[in-house]
Amino acid sequence: MSNIVSIAVFASGSGSNFQAIQEAIECGELNAKIELVVTDKPGAYVVERAKAKGIPVLALSPKDFGSKEAFEQAILAKLQECEVKWIVLAGYMRLIGETLLNSYNSKIVNIHPSLLPSFPGKDAIGQAMEHRVKVTGVTVHFVDAGMDTGPIIAQRAVAVTDGDRVATEQAIHAIEHDLYKEALQATLK
Ligand code: GRF
Repeated sequence: MSNIVSIAVFASGSGSNFQAIQEAIECGELNAKIELVVTDKPGAYVVERAKAKGIPVLALSPKDFGSKEAFEQAILAKLQECEVKWIVLAGYMRLIGETLLNSYNSKIVNIHPSLLPSFPGKDAIGQAMEHRVKVTGVTVHFVDAGMDTGPIIAQRAVAVTDGDRVATEQAIHAIEHDLYKEALQATLK
């Protein structure tokens, strides 16, 4: 495989998107290498998933740092050591600050479980259910300083199963796992 792009995946939770990205790499659908998983939640399940795949993990608690800048400087040092070219957010529940935005200008992407600009921020699926929308979806976008506001790369719609949050969540996650690998393959250079 040529032109393999070095990436870091940032995640705070279960890591099913991390897993889907890694599996896409393993079966040749995505020309990338996950050099590092970064988490702000050392107990998150993504840590187990990364270990099982033999991928190094940087787990740092923001509360151990005096400022967001110091927290991001520690991450940045490791990213540079690993020669990471792109940051891929996959359920990372923290706004990216100036330190990382400046060093990875236009090289940070995120996946969000709604058709942005609808339902940014936390619990996008819950927001969609509350508004009783019939269609929601998934967005992959570049990251800027705002909350889920950067330029959109790809979107896919998902029908909301009437009042059934679990079914809607499952449908969204299945779409996420497909859409992210396709959008990354088209975007990472
Ligand atoms: C996904 O729904 C993603 O869109 C959102 O957080 C969730 C992460 O899920 N940003 P997982 O940890 O990848 O399973």
